[in-house]
Amino acid sequence: MYILANWKDRLDADSSSALANQILSNTSSAYGNIEIVIFPDTVSLAQVALLFESSSIVKIGAQDGPLEKSGTLTGSIAVANISQFCDYVILGHSERRSKLGETDEIVAKKATVACDLGLVPVICVSNGEVSNADPYLGIETQLQAIPREILSRGELLIAYEPIDAIGTGSPGNPKTVEETARAIHKVISRIVPTINVPVLYGGSVDAENVTSYLSLKGIDGVLVGGASLAADSFLSIVDEALHIEHAQ
Ligand code: PGA
Repeated sequence: MYILANWKDRLDADSSSALANQILSNTSSAYGNIEIVIFPDTVSLAQVALLFESSSIVKIGAQDGPLEKSGTLTGSIAVANISQFCDYVILGHSERRSKLGETDEIVAKKATVACDLGLVPVICVSNGEVSNADPYLGIETQLQAIPREILSRGELLIAYEPIDAIGTGSPGNPKTVEETARAIHKVISRIVPTINVPVLYGGSVDAENVTSYLSLKGIDGVLVGGASLAADSFLSIVDEALHIEHAQ
């Protein structure tokens, strides 16, 4: 089960270190199969990663990855830094797709670089384009753009994040989330029949509603934004996940 904390650009370096320290001192080794991953902003990445260097519980990820393994791109994160400090990388978040025009092709290129660097890409998909005939059209297009060899390796996560649930306090309807997760698994198994890729839900997840997502069939974790910005609320989410783990 995956509990991912997407800090976006909401914390400065001092606040990032303070929050990381609080999480560090309140996480025990009793998390079983729960993988906690924190995604600080690029400036705070190294210092937060160093704090968790000897933690076997909390992993670190970047909120975006390089487009090329070697090349020059002003504003990009250095390949050496991402390899040194991260295990995961978020790609194709809808905020980047909508505000920066990141296309499926760009996401695919970044996913290839990430996998070559040994990182696990967390590829975000959302219901941009819908049609009555196929309500999952947008998601299916985004999934089909992921290079087949990456899907075949199975070392990636898919985060389903309905756009109107992100940062709005209006979380997705669990029934719809479950149906969408089923559709995502179906599309992936059509492309690579033998692979089971973990699917996460993201969008206004908090300690009150997280159980309703983590107990859904086909959902293997959550990507948390706002509620991951304070130790109490984030650790309450982790605790809820732990209850589910123990009950299984
Ligand atoms: P939110 O953000 O939990 O604040 O809705 C989730 C995300 O954008 O990853």
